Amino acid sequence: MSGWPPPVLDPHGPFSNTVTTLAWGLIALMTLIFIGVCAAMWVALYGSDGLRAKLGGERVVKWFGLIIPAGVLLLLLAWGLTLAAGMTTVKGDELRMRVSGNIYWWRVSYLDAAGKEMLADANELHIPVGRPVVVDMVSEDVIHSFWVPKLGGKMDMIPGRTNQLKLQADKAGVYGGQCAEFCGGAHALMGFVVVAHEPADWQRWLDSRLKPVTNTPLSVEALRGKQLFNEVGCAACHRVAGTQAQGLSGPDLTFVGSRRSLGAGILPNTRATLIGWIGDSQSIKPNNRMPAYRSLKADELNALAAYMESLK
Ligand code: CUA
Repeated sequence: MSGWPPPVLDPHGPFSNTVTTLAWGLIALMTLIFIGVCAAMWVALYGSDGLRAKLGGERVVKWFGLIIPAGVLLLLLAWGLTLAAGMTTVKGDELRMRVSGNIYWWRVSYLDAAGKEMLADANELHIPVGRPVVVDMVSEDVIHSFWVPKLGGKMDMIPGRTNQLKLQADKAGVYGGQCAEFCGGAHALMGFVVVAHEPADWQRWLDSRLKPVTNTPLSVEALRGKQLFNEVGCAACHRVAGTQAQGLSGPDLTFVGSRRSLGAGILPNTRATLIGWIGDSQSIKPNNRMPAYRSLKADELNALAAYMESLK
């Protein structure tokens, strides 16, 4: 999320385009006002006596100090509200999802037409290109804010209420997202990705995920990892569909092996980073809710990582 243009000025969908339009409109207007104020200042300092008297006159103060600013602000409010309405109006043909903020990760649910969860995941959203997605925003602890600058606006996740935000990508690709509300020490490390697929690819992706999990034969190493996963206590917090691990307080790991990142968008997903994360996630993301497992030996960490890699 760096470089030029900044993501917020580089929209890849209609809703982020709206934000960019508003941003450029505000920048243009502010520039005009800035030039006007500079001109008035120049007149006040160096203008002729006649001009300066006019500038300080009651009419100028009334118009430029009250009526015009109030009018401009009202127009901006109306414009902003109109644009915002288009970004949140739900029409019914959208893909439905729910994302809930957690200290410092994102629970992701794909919903069916009735609003029931059909697929659970974490820290990664997969969406079809060209179709609006309505995301229900909730929080399970403190206030977070969901923001994918290239695909939509920004929406707070507030405990006890459900907000909605619409996203849409007009081009396939991987888009960065970030928590945009200070939620604790590792707030800056609370990222995620949105993967936009061509519609047919997305449907294939979804179908493959909705199939009952088939237990593909595991390597000896991964099998040992699976055993450790339960012995060490990972299953108390994490769920792996089709196994006895059904914990719900941590990220769902059913598909962790296919995720692009680890630790909510902050590390590439490799054997080395998996080992580092499982062994001591606290040194990577301080005060996240997963304890460090410093007592695990290298071969045990390796086995756990192998098991994680097998989950896809
Ligand atoms: Cu979550 Cu900042």
